[in-house]
Amino acid sequence: EKGGYEHFMLKEIFEQPNSIADCMRGRLKANEGKLVLGGIHEYANALTNAQRIVIVACGTSWHAGLVAEYIIEDFCRIPVEVEYASEFRYRNPIINEGDIVIAISQSGETADTLAALELAKSKGAIILGVVNAVGSSISRITHEGAYLHAGPEIGVASTKAFTAQLTVLIMMALRIAHRKGTITESKYHELLVELESIPAKIKKALDVNDQIKEISARFKDARNFIYLGRGYNFPVALEGALKLKEISYIHAEGYPAAEMKHGPIALIDEEMPVVFIATRDSSYEKVVSNIQEVKARKGKVIAIVTEGEETINQIADFVIEVPHTSEALMPLVSVIPLQLLSYHIAVMRGCNVDQPRNLAKSVTVE
Ligand code: M6R
Repeated sequence: EKGGYEHFMLKEIFEQPNSIADCMRGRLKANEGKLVLGGIHEYANALTNAQRIVIVACGTSWHAGLVAEYIIEDFCRIPVEVEYASEFRYRNPIINEGDIVIAISQSGETADTLAALELAKSKGAIILGVVNAVGSSISRITHEGAYLHAGPEIGVASTKAFTAQLTVLIMMALRIAHRKGTITESKYHELLVELESIPAKIKKALDVNDQIKEISARFKDARNFIYLGRGYNFPVALEGALKLKEISYIHAEGYPAAEMKHGPIALIDEEMPVVFIATRDSSYEKVVSNIQEVKARKGKVIAIVTEGEETINQIADFVIEVPHTSEALMPLVSVIPLQLLSYHIAVMRGCNVDQPRNLAKSVTVE
């Protein structure tokens, strides 16, 4: 059932061109300008007119929520708050009648996320789910929701669920933005076309597998890692660090790249691998300066860059190319090499990749 792969995690990483195509099937047809999300129908108006959206989730799903915050605020101009479900449920949060609360969960069974939704529902919020597991507890208590259709995810480290979550959340945001008129018609169509091309771009991004194996061999004995990104790639830095921690047991931290000078830069010496997500986007120039700051302190830089990059190659120790896409869609592509990096490092360290110590696939206790 591993389809010839050594681990479920690797199979699921390589499945992503298909799982994302499945996620978009019947929902998106760019040439017809068609975008429908069956699960978000009755509450489409409520979403369009929302004064505020709260997203609750844990772990990787919370990272998808952070990307969604940027996308929804950017395109829909609706304020979004992203909360750890475990904090939200116990901190007496402000929830008003008619507020929209969206839960993101692969399993649909995460205890904290479920409890956060129950709390929101009891206060009169409209609760929506972005869930993979059909018929799961979260999908049953929500008013409406959109499934990921990513297929079962077996590896404890979430990979294809993350990219499918992003895909659903982007489709949701584009639907709202289009209804609200907060996005121009041409930008909307450009993004639909771009979204449709993502499976092919992920396929291309997966070509770096062998190169990542070599880089992994070089860094497998590192004791720490730092991951840095800005804008849409900031949550990707968090996700890269989480993947590495959970399956290789190497300590890793993700930060917004500019936050480095407020503390973490003190950690950098010639032993410290620093992974930059430095694709061509609006913060590119600033990220290049951040790379220079790390190199000035002799850190080892591994940079995820856009195809055809020429500047960063001169500064970084290792450069990994991914295809270009729109800024808001970049996390779908830029996370791929980070998933592979954590996978290969963990395998080289002899770790049980599919079932890392102390972790369960779904956390059904608080
Ligand atoms: O099933 P969920 O998406 O609700 O799970 C949330 C987290 O437990 C999950 O993402 C966890 O962080 C993964 N092990 C990350 O790879």
